[in-house]
Amino acid sequence: MALTANFVPFLFLSLIAGCAARPFYPLPSKISIENRQPIQTSRPYNIAHRGSNGEIPEATAAAYMRAIEEGADFIETDILSSKDGVLVCFHDVTLDDTTDVKEHKEFANRKRTYEVQGVNTTGFFTVDFTLEELKKLRVKQRYIFRDQQYNGKFPIITFEEFISIALDAPRVVGIYPEIKNPVLINQRVKWPDGKRFEDKFVETLKKYGYKGSYLSNDWLKQPVFIQSFAPTSLVYISNLTDSPKVFLIDDVTIPTQDTNQSYWEITSDAYLDYIKDYVIGIGPWKDTVVPVKDNYLQTPTDLVARAHAHNLQVHPYTYRDENMFLHFDFHEDPYQEYDYWLNKIGVDGLFTDFTGSLHRFQEWTSPLSRHNSNNEGKASKILDKVAWLIASSRNG
Ligand SMILES: *[C@@H]1O[C@H](CO)[C@@H](O)[C@H](O)[C@H]1NC(C)=O
Ligand SMILES: *[C@@H]1O[C@H](CO)[C@@H](O)[C@H](O)[C@H]1NC(C)=O
Ligand SMILES: *[C@@H]1O[C@H](CO)[C@@H](O)[C@H](O)[C@H]1NC(C)=O
Repeated sequence: MALTANFVPFLFLSLIAGCAARPFYPLPSKISIENRQPIQTSRPYNIAHRGSNGEIPEATAAAYMRAIEEGADFIETDILSSKDGVLVCFHDVTLDDTTDVKEHKEFANRKRTYEVQGVNTTGFFTVDFTLEELKKLRVKQRYIFRDQQYNGKFPIITFEEFISIALDAPRVVGIYPEIKNPVLINQRVKWPDGKRFEDKFVETLKKYGYKGSYLSNDWLKQPVFIQSFAPTSLVYISNLTDSPKVFLIDDVTIPTQDTNQSYWEITSDAYLDYIKDYVIGIGPWKDTVVPVKDNYLQTPTDLVARAHAHNLQVHPYTYRDENMFLHFDFHEDPYQEYDYWLNKIGVDGLFTDFTGSLHRFQEWTSPLSRHNSNNEGKASKILDKVAWLIASSRNG
């Protein structure tokens, strides 16, 4: 509660402050880039899934700014395209569930049915709206049990606006964009010169200076992970950029969207051997790493061990604080879930809807070494440790 109270004035001031061309974010010239705190690379990454979408409607500037304020290492987004070929940050191929599109009479005739990954899907597709039209819509919270007060307040943002938010952050914050539904996008949207969705995606990253292999100097200045469920897209862009890529892995029942391979194929040692030449890691759904039955965890698979043996990082998704998402083993305590995945399973990053919770957990249990550089830091580290010990003995 206190967090929200502190945060609202800041957020709205910054949003109201600039309704002009490049609205929400401090100008880069106002921040000394040289002195920005670097990205931490000593503990698993806090990946803000669609921004701090547990609190604020997903993939909006406000959700991303909130995530940065709360300590995200990376802000995560899904990239789709408008009808006129502008890349936008939006998760679903249709606008129905997370915008007010149905309240716009002028768009009533835009409803379509397209085959998306083998399923006929009906709704208002982003690919049938120009950017100008998309900008008339306002985003709303996906889940009814989350805070609804920001519904109708924030627009959809473009990939370029998303990048600006990261580049303008007061410390180095990475980006984690997904090449989303490339098969559908390449079917429905045509770019000049026969360019593909993937070409536009990489062009945009390069335009803003994103380049360099994992942990290179270029990468550390502007960290990025490119993610996709589509192996063909990842292999294709490996010719276009050396930025690190992450191969997303779905539920065991869902084949890959472009190569129709099963979960068992793409998690085999032979496949990990193949894909490791193109990607730096995998992003599996967490329930495929540790299967779940009757809402209880079962014996963990060896996927993390095998991925690590192939020198691949593992960034599972998605961590959510609410009870209905927490398996019974965690006693309705999201910190226990983080503890399990970070310390028992040993993953390298987590996609979370609640950046603030993950950040507090990590600062509490594995504070960054920069805290050692002054006495105040040392004192608070010791206090953190004491607090953690007390908490552990209570839990244990
Ligand atoms: C989708 O609908 C079209 C037109 O009704 C039909 O021809 C096609 O077989 C359907 N596809 C699937 C996957 O159901
Ligand atoms: C990558 O580029 C090489 C050399 O131009 C080409 O032979 C190869 O087919 C390309 N690979 C992909 C996946 O596009
Ligand atoms: C995908 O693979 C499954 C199982 O091998 C097969 O039954 C199905 O026909 C394939 N679909 C396509 C579109 O190739």
